[in-house]
Amino acid sequence: VDVHFEWRATFANADVNALHAAGFDHAVLDVDWKGQVERHSLGWVCAFDAGCLVGFVNVAWDGGVHAFVLDTLVETARRRHGIGRGLLDMAVRESRAAGCEWLHVDFEEDLGDFYVAACGFTPTPAGLIALR
Ligand SMILES: CC(C)(COP(=O)(O)OP(=O)(O)OC[C@H]1O[C@@H](n2cnc3c(N)ncnc32)[C@H](O)[C@@H]1OP(=O)(O)O)[C@@H](O)C(=O)NCCC(=O)NCCS
Repeated sequence: VDVHFEWRATFANADVNALHAAGFDHAVLDVDWKGQVERHSLGWVCAFDAGCLVGFVNVAWDGGVHAFVLDTLVETARRRHGIGRGLLDMAVRESRAAGCEWLHVDFEEDLGDFYVAACGFTPTPAGLIALR
C-alpha cells in the first residue's frame, strides 16, 4: 500500500465522521473533529491514499507527560494492510517527540493482537466507568 501518514494533518470533518460511523457501527454524525482535536489533543494522525482519508487516530493529552490513544480508525475495505499499525507508530513517535512519557490505550479483548502484538503496547489493568 502506498499510504502516506501525517501528524496533525488537515482533514475534513465529514471524512472522519464517515470512518467513525463505519468503524463503530453507528449512523454518520456531524461531529466537529477538527475543532475538538485542535483545542484538546496533543495531536492526531491521518493516513491518506491518493489524497483520500483512509485512517485516523486521535492522541488525547493531559497537558503533561500522558497521552491517550482514542478513535483508531481504518477504512473498512483497507483493513489488515498495516495502516492501523502505521497510525500507531506515528502516534508513538510524535508523542515521544512532544516530551510525553506514557502512551495509554484501552480496548476490548479481541483487539489485543492489534494493540499488544502488532503495535507494542504492554497489557496493564485499566478501569472504566460509563457516565451515561
Ligand atoms: C482496529 C483497526 C484500527 C486495525 O486497523 P488495521 O489497519 O486493520 O490494522 P493492521 O493492518 O495494522 O493490523 C496489524 C496486525 O494487528 C492485528 N489485527 C488487526 N486488526 C485486528 C482485529 N480486528 N482483530 C484481531 N487482530 C487484529 C493482526 O495481527 C494484524 O496483522 P495481520 O493482518 O498480518 O494479521 C481497524 O480494524 C478498525 O478501524 N476497526 C474499527 C474501529 C475500532 O474498533 N477501533 C479500535 C478502537 S479501540
